[in-house]
Amino acid sequence: MLTLNIIPLNKGHIPAIYEIERESFRSPWTLEAFLAELHNPASLSFVAVVEDEVAGYIIAWEFEHSIHIGNLAVKKYYRRKGIATRLIKKILKIAEEKHHTFVSLEVRRSNLPAIRLYEKMGFKLDRVIKRYYSDNFEDALIYKYSIT
Ligand SMILES: CC(C)(COP(=O)(O)OP(=O)(O)OC[C@H]1O[C@@H](n2cnc3c(N)ncnc32)[C@H](O)[C@@H]1OP(=O)(O)O)[C@@H](O)C(=O)NCCC(=O)NCCS
Repeated sequence: MLTLNIIPLNKGHIPAIYEIERESFRSPWTLEAFLAELHNPASLSFVAVVEDEVAGYIIAWEFEHSIHIGNLAVKKYYRRKGIATRLIKKILKIAEEKHHTFVSLEVRRSNLPAIRLYEKMGFKLDRVIKRYYSDNFEDALIYKYSIT
């Protein structure tokens, strides 16, 4: 059993999450994009910390009636240990406490690990956006978790 803490993102975490981002995505966010989240009042951003090591992160944005998850990744070494599940549960809890209507996210059609994760957690496929991703024109699947 991992001793895992979910804590708000701060500037000191950025180098570690940038490294995880680059090992996780074909078109990674830039360092500037992560830094901008620190000053975005709509940002709900958390890191998962094991001992003193950043093992994963989630970046979400709060709107009037909903939350959208914009980024989520777990360091390869720490995958399949329930860390992404814990990060998503943190966002779902906030959504429930603040009486939001739903939590949404988009995922590449080919990203089966993430799709399995979201479906296991109760997200439902809402719609498909054809050729959404500009790097390879892959479809985006939009998933929603209804709070009410
Ligand atoms: C997708 C990702 C965030 C999952 O993180 P994780 O911490 O390993 O996920 P969890 O351990 O919480 O997994 C929970 C469940 O999701 C499913 N799942 C996760 N990874 C899977 C994989 N590689 N293959 C199949 N199912 C998988 C399983 O049902 C798993 O439950 P189980 O381990 O009891 O079978 C991680 O693989 C990752 O960082 N991938 C690269 C970045 C990415 O794709 N982010 C999502 C963008 S939309």
